[in-house]
Amino acid sequence: MGSFTQDAELPHINLQLGWPTPSLFAREQLLKGSQSILSSPAETALALVYGPHPGYIPLRKEVAKWLSEIYSPASGPIDFSRIIISNGASCNLANILQKFADATYTRRIFMVEPTYFLACPIFEDGGFKGKLQGIPEDAEEGLDIEYLRRVLQEAESERAKAVPNPDDDVPRLKTGPNFPHVYKYIVYMVPTYSNPSAKTMSLHRRKQVVELAREYDALVVTDDVYDMLSWPADPALPDDAVGPIPPRLVDLDRSMPGRSDFGNTVSNGSFSKIVGPGVRVGWAESTKAFADLLGEVGSSSSGGNPGQLSSMFVHHMLAAGTLQTHIKNELIPTYRKRYYVLMSAIRKDLVPLGIEIEVGAPYQTSDSSQTTYTETVGGFFTYLRLPPGMPFAREVAAHAMEKYNLKVAFGHMFKVWGDNESTTKAESPRGFGHCVRLCWAWHTEEELIQGVRRLASVILEMREGAGASNGI
Ligand SMILES: Cc1ncc(COP(=O)(O)O)c(C=O)c1O
Repeated sequence: MGSFTQDAELPHINLQLGWPTPSLFAREQLLKGSQSILSSPAETALALVYGPHPGYIPLRKEVAKWLSEIYSPASGPIDFSRIIISNGASCNLANILQKFADATYTRRIFMVEPTYFLACPIFEDGGFKGKLQGIPEDAEEGLDIEYLRRVLQEAESERAKAVPNPDDDVPRLKTGPNFPHVYKYIVYMVPTYSNPSAKTMSLHRRKQVVELAREYDALVVTDDVYDMLSWPADPALPDDAVGPIPPRLVDLDRSMPGRSDFGNTVSNGSFSKIVGPGVRVGWAESTKAFADLLGEVGSSSSGGNPGQLSSMFVHHMLAAGTLQTHIKNELIPTYRKRYYVLMSAIRKDLVPLGIEIEVGAPYQTSDSSQTTYTETVGGFFTYLRLPPGMPFAREVAAHAMEKYNLKVAFGHMFKVWGDNESTTKAESPRGFGHCVRLCWAWHTEEELIQGVRRLASVILEMREGAGASNGI
């Protein structure tokens, strides 16, 4: 096809949007669930009253069963007492801060960077403005663990100087029986198919993070919202050839000896990506002590289960197995195809221009004989590094929007708010400010191909000067 000259006529392509396509919403399954509940007066009565504070018990049980099947945790099936129902991962992050963090005591919030930027305002609203700090990913394992160790040590020394008497080092706001455990640190991450970097943290690094969190009284909050969307990296393999997905940090915290009552990890799960974001139902998993307390966050004590009506709809889908079938038969095959189409378009049109695909090593699972390995990929995103000599991805994204009606997410969006070093790191020669994130969840295969072609035109033009085109 010819080069894009009639810019205003180009249909908008949004490779920034991290939303599932509406045609993939679990509409029919939800309809069946809602019909079944709302046509029964008894069920309706349950659905439209205030629900139990930690959530609708049958959904907690069904989530526990489903997660046990998906993760096969080394310590055995998950008990529902570890699960509470939430309004989704975002609201739950805010609730975690309400119950387990105190800005007078919790020293810092560490965020793996590039970070899911929309978590930053949640932390700021929680009273942590100015206390967010980025921890870089590393190329191979998903997190620079020595960096984290060093900043934890620094933060402890700073605290010891500011509060020399350990008896004075106590929370000032979150006190009394409603706040039995306030953590000194929060570490926030998306360890599997990360938003934005698409990296998956290695098993070894996950264990190290849990150990470090225990040593420094840190709570590791993981948004595990993409885990269910996994497939083999190899297009020749069938869907079910996918190996087990990585254990969550919460699974490791359960199985590693020496865990405390409240533990050091909490997993935020969500139905947003697999049912539809408007359903506003998710869950959190941690120890029973942690879950009991989180389930009694003030807004749930007053308002009950944060999503009682939707919880019952989602429960119907899970109990009937229709959601699992939807994930298996619709979501994974569709996203899987789009992933290969996008990646092959990138290899064809962008890699020859000097773009690097920078998503780290895929997660590898071995069979029991330890002889064969399956590389597992998934989620919504891929992450690309621009060729050397290009301006920051921010400028590339602006040009793409202005000239090609193409939206892409750029590295500077993923800085940790208020952390000047995060900007320095983003803008360093190999920093994440030189990267763009593309999402395959919103557009069709053909639109993904067109989007990549437009990005190739942008790169050529910006690299070689005004007016150049790659003729596609
Ligand atoms: C890492 C991450 N966390 C949380 C969310 C939002 O989840 P929820 O809709 O459950 O609030 C998203 C959605 O893009 C996400 O990518």
